Amino acid sequence: MTHVPVLLHEVLDGLALQPGMRIVDATVGLGGHAKAMLERIQPEGTLIGFDRDMRNLAMTERRLDVFGDNVQLVNESFARMCEFVNAPVDAVLFDLGYSSAHVDDASRGFSFQNDGPLDMRYDLRQELTAADIVNGWSRENMASLFRTYGEEPRSADVAKAIHDARRVDRITRTSELADIVASAIKSRGKTHPATRIFQALRIAVNNEFGEIEKGIYAAADLLIPGGRMAIITFHSLEDALVKELVIKRHDLEKVNKHVIKPQYQETQRNRRARSAKLRIVKKI
Ligand SMILES: C[S@@+](CC[C@H](N)C(=O)[O-])C[C@H]1O[C@@H](n2cnc3c(N)ncnc32)[C@H](O)[C@@H]1O
Repeated sequence: MTHVPVLLHEVLDGLALQPGMRIVDATVGLGGHAKAMLERIQPEGTLIGFDRDMRNLAMTERRLDVFGDNVQLVNESFARMCEFVNAPVDAVLFDLGYSSAHVDDASRGFSFQNDGPLDMRYDLRQELTAADIVNGWSRENMASLFRTYGEEPRSADVAKAIHDARRVDRITRTSELADIVASAIKSRGKTHPATRIFQALRIAVNNEFGEIEKGIYAAADLLIPGGRMAIITFHSLEDALVKELVIKRHDLEKVNKHVIKPQYQETQRNRRARSAKLRIVKKI
């Protein structure tokens, strides 16, 4: 299973990596960025990688084996990085969201195209799943979630359709939920109406925005003055949050005036790159 790292050259250059650096990959995933970053910082450089998903980490451990003791992997949220990393570090990468392993494996419940259980947890030790939200939350709370984190204009209709369906039987499969959403919205647009609802559920199940806030602040605390942070986001809400956090944090400044987007060729090779945006910031 491979995950094509997004905006790889832009990240490597943006972080100004040099041999001997000590760096953090906050979302090591399948190790695509980590491997390329490690190659740049050898022979002495070290990388600490975090991921909430132990399955991804197990694959990545094998992939990064050649770097021996220069790599340490931690199965925890990046929000807790200060507990595992001693300051200072020279660079930190956040490549936010899910990996290709999550959507390719239907049993993880991230995809409505491949039927699976309504799960969506990155960390399988966690209790809350998407099924708990869909079957347990009030109609009002679901509508608010779909509006806030899915930017779904018909959020109330979707919440009502889910509420009606679960009165008949518990909703347990991704395809079932996608059909319920489609029947409530009947969109003729290019994107499936369930896309926004699945996004909202994934954000809520994994408390993504709360973790991002803690993670970016933790990384800012760990960085050496002049040290850099690269953050790749994949949708507008995520990017808006990162932008706001960087502004609030007065010891961070932008390296690039505008966000960096993938070249046309990359978007042709890798569909997921189409929505990617990269921000590079520096600790003052
Ligand atoms: C886009 S993928 C990273 C891909 C990676 N850069 C690569 O090249 O293979 C994002 C990863 O972040 C992980 N993740 C999501 N939220 C996290 C968090 N709060 N802390 C640590 N890892 C997280 C996911 O499990 C996923 O493996």
